Amino acid sequence: METLSISAESFKVGFIGAGKMAESIARGVVASGMLFPNRNSTAVHSNLNRRQVFESFGVNVFSSSEEVSGSSSLYLSLDNEPWTTEEDGALVAKLFGSVGKMFKAYEKMFDAVTGLSGSGPAYIFLAIEALADGGVAAGLPRELSLGLASQTVLGGATMVSKTGKHPGVLKDDVTSPGGTTIAGVHELEKGSWSCNNGEQNG
Ligand SMILES: NC(=O)c1ccc[n+]([C@@H]2O[C@H](COP(=O)([O-])OP(=O)(O)OC[C@H]3O[C@@H](n4cnc5c(N)ncnc54)[C@H](OP(=O)(O)O)[C@@H]3O)[C@@H](O)[C@H]2O)c1
Repeated sequence: METLSISAESFKVGFIGAGKMAESIARGVVASGMLFPNRNSTAVHSNLNRRQVFESFGVNVFSSSEEVSGSSSLYLSLDNEPWTTEEDGALVAKLFGSVGKMFKAYEKMFDAVTGLSGSGPAYIFLAIEALADGGVAAGLPRELSLGLASQTVLGGATMVSKTGKHPGVLKDDVTSPGGTTIAGVHELEKGSWSCNNGEQNG
């Protein structure tokens, strides 16, 4: 793991909004060892149950967002309002880099980024559900089918990410001539499962 120049003794992160994103990032920052739990803070808004959720892993919970911003070195606005974070891009990069893979993108790309990676999990959930339904239709118990479907997606994503190979090359690697896999690929491409919306088959 990258050595961080930020001192855990002096640095504090505040989350404006005690929702799902704030919880995920705070849990990740704590789990990565980047910051001690009590160097994170947030404040409850209308849903008071969120206090217990954050306190359960050691995050300070204030009564107002003003207290959060006043007590933090850096605060992240995750309250469904437009992003207001300021200057220190390197610091934000380290923060998010501690909880996952970080990519940089120009602001003009943000709509496309949102459509791809923000909304993307929903598309993948649909794909997993469809694969699992296919397995059930072919006679597998639901639990087994769902397990196989999700592990298949995880394995495929890991191979793309780890090997750096183009997904088309990886697809070619697993499609034997006249086999069932290329037959399945052909069926998928008759629909809209390709970047050209199936136009080559239209
Ligand atoms: N979830 C995702 O996968 C995802 C992915 C990418 C981006 N985002 C973006 O990240 C932001 C947060 O998403 P989320 O999923 O964490 O939403 P969320 O779970 O609904 O959390 C939003 C939080 O903000 C609080 N809040 C609302 N208005 C506030 C105010 N005026 N002052 C202080 N707190 C306030 C809410 O508190 P109450 O419920 O108590 O009102 C809630 O705890 C959104 O802009 C979202 O579009 C989310």
